[in-house]
Order: sequence, then structure tokens, then C-alpha cells
Amino acid sequence: MAPFIANTWKLHTLIVLVAIACLCFGVKGQLMPSFYDNVCPQALPTIKAIVQSAVYNEPRMGASLLRMHFHDCFVHGCDASILLDQTPAINSEKFAAPNNNSIRGFEVIDRIKAEVDRVCGSPVVSCADILAVTARDSVVALGGPWWNVPLGRRDSTDAYQSLANSAIPSPFMELSALINSFNDQGLDIIDLVALSGAHTIGFAQCRVFRSRIYNDTNIDSSFANSLQQNCARSAGRTDSNLAPLDPTSARFDTMYYNNLVNQKGLLHSDQALFGGGSTEELVKTYNSDYQAFWRQFAKSMVKMGNIKPLTGYDGQIRTNCRRVN
Ligand code: HEM
Ligand SMILES: *[C@@H]1O[C@H](CO)[C@@H](O)[C@H](O)[C@H]1NC(C)=O
Ligand SMILES: *[C@@H]1O[C@H](CO)[C@@H](O)[C@H](O)[C@H]1NC(C)=O
Repeated sequence: MAPFIANTWKLHTLIVLVAIACLCFGVKGQLMPSFYDNVCPQALPTIKAIVQSAVYNEPRMGASLLRMHFHDCFVHGCDASILLDQTPAINSEKFAAPNNNSIRGFEVIDRIKAEVDRVCGSPVVSCADILAVTARDSVVALGGPWWNVPLGRRDSTDAYQSLANSAIPSPFMELSALINSFNDQGLDIIDLVALSGAHTIGFAQCRVFRSRIYNDTNIDSSFANSLQQNCARSAGRTDSNLAPLDPTSARFDTMYYNNLVNQKGLLHSDQALFGGGSTEELVKTYNSDYQAFWRQFAKSMVKMGNIKPLTGYDGQIRTNCRRVN
């Protein structure tokens, strides 16, 4: 009887110790929404307040911040590598082709980081987590769905400019290339169609939709005509003129999908989702059922946010998101 009791006691001790280890240090590689609940309960409300005021001042900022998280996650995982400035040692992703003169919102992230570190009393919240929460709060601020953001990411100590050039999908891609690009990140066609719905908010520059409005045939002709007024055929002065990605560019609605059904996708890559391929049915579903879109968008954002995070003792918690410590 005695050895049995001793063994049972040992087993219970082991279970308790494992449970404590999991609670204190987190399961290795596993993000969780409650990560900052004890160490800094004010972190998330602080992020939300600053995002709300930034989006109130300029609705497009919500779109820009959402996109920043996407361009972070597709390059070496969600590790805030996109935020590092150029130095002799760092080849900044900010100058990669998909980001140069295009990605914006860095000042808002700086403001959030400074304020979060102030209310927390020390730099405990990573820049990578700030990007993930900021993306969610931006969607909410523009009338979209809320979801729980798993947290506990750490920040990279390097940037990956050439990877940014190859891993971020291009607006000139066909469906098969888009599918491959997302597959490389562990994302499927459901994620591709749902996450592309992010183009229900924000703007694009003439230089990325010029060939679409002058050369594509799968485009509504009056839609193409009206865009041509503000985007000249030849490269130059109008290159950075903006057009909304969908007509309600400050509302997180289903108009993006409605446009695709009507051959009014702004980017070649947008319209590729509705051209008789494997994604066409999903576009129709999200066009007619905003709840289905919202539910899947939230799920796919969590999935994208889980791309190769640094956790545990990997990476660092940056003090300044623009520099390694
Ligand atoms: C499917 C492949 C995708 C391609 C090819 C693509 C491409 C682009 C391009 C070219 C722009 C315009 C940039 C400019 O003209 O400066 C843009 C804007 C934007 N993208 Fe995407 N994108 C894709 C997926 C996504 C995803 C997955 C998200 C987020 C979950 C996203 C969020 C946005 C937002 C919100 C904007 C507007 C940004 C602003 O107004 O500042 N995109 N995208
Ligand atoms: C980024 O854009 C600037 C113009 O604003 C240009 O001078 C520079 O060459 C571009 N950088 C790269 C790496 O393409
Ligand atoms: C349209 O296509 C032609 C032929 O491929 C090309 O030479 C031209 O530069 C394209 N124009 C635009 C605006 O993309």
C-alpha cells in the first residue's frame, strides 16, 4: 500500500509542477489571449484607445495598420521585423518593393509602444503583439468583427528585405500564384478569400492598378473609365494617385465581394478570385452572407497571426520598435 501511495503522490506532484510550469512560462510556441492579463492588464485597453483615436482622425489609418500586420506575418513570421529601420546592420523591409512608399502607420505604432510601456511601467509588451492587437482594433473601429487575439509573440533581431520582396503576394498575380503564396504560409484558399476581404477598407495607388484599368478585359468598362480619369496610361505624375479598394473604403462590409461579382475588383489579384476558379463559390458566399465573412475573417486572422511567432526565450521585447535592443 505504501509504495502505491508514494507513487500516487509523486504523480500528483508531477502534474502540479507541469501545470505551474505551463501557467508561468506558457506552453512553448503557444500564443494565448491572456498573456498580458497579469503582467499588464492595461496594455490592451491602451492599444484600443490609441487605435480608435487614430482611426477617428483618419479612417484610412485602420486599413494601413491592418495591412502592416499582414506584411509582418508573411515575412519570417509575425515578429515585427517590418518595423526595423535601416542601419548598417539592418536591411529594412520598409524599402522592399511591396512596402516602399506604400506601407504606412509607423508613427501610430511608435505612439502605442511608448504609451503601453509607460502604463505597464516597463517594456513587457512586444511590438509583434502590438501589431496583432492593432490590426484587430482597426477592424473593429471600422465596423468589422472582434476576435480574441492570441498573444506572447516576441520581436525579431533582424529584418528580411529580400524575403519581403518574394513572400508578399503581388497585385499582378493570377489565382494559382496567389494560392501558392498563401500555401507557403500554411494558409488555404478559404484563408485567401476571407483575408482578401481586408480590401473592403483602404486605398491603392494608380501604379498598382494601371495595367488592370487599361489592359484587363475582365473589368466593367464604366468602372475602368472612371478610374482612368485619375490614373494616366503612362507612368509618371499620377503614379501615386489613390483609388478606394471598394466604394465603402471606411466600412468593413461585404462590398469588396460584391464588386468582384460585378467585375469591379480594383486589383488584378482581387478580380482573380472571381474568374471561374476554385475560389468563386467562396466569393459568392461572402458576398451574400456577411456573418459567414466575419466569422471566417476572424478565424483566418488568428491563423495568419500564428505564422511562425518567436516565443519563450527566442527574440526579444524591443524597447523601441524601430531598433533592436
Ligand atoms: C491576396 C493577396 C494580396 C495582394 C496581392 C495585396 C496587394 C495590395 C496592394 C497592391 C495594395 C495597395 C498598396 C498601395 O497601392 O500602396 C493593398 C492594400 C491593402 N491591403 Fe492588400 N493585398 C493582399 C492581401 C491582403 C491581406 C491578406 C490583407 C490583410 C489581412 C490586406 C490588407 C490591405 C489593406 C487594408 C490595404 C489598404 C491599405 C491602405 O489604405 O493603407 N491585403 N494590398
Ligand atoms: C524607395 O522609394 C524611393 C523614392 O521614394 C526611391 O528613391 C528608392 O530607390 C526606393 N527604394 C528601393 C529599394 O527601391
Ligand atoms: C498593356 O499591355 C501592353 C502589351 O502587353 C503593354 O505594352 C503596355 O505597357 C500595357 N499597358 C499598361 C498601362 O499596363
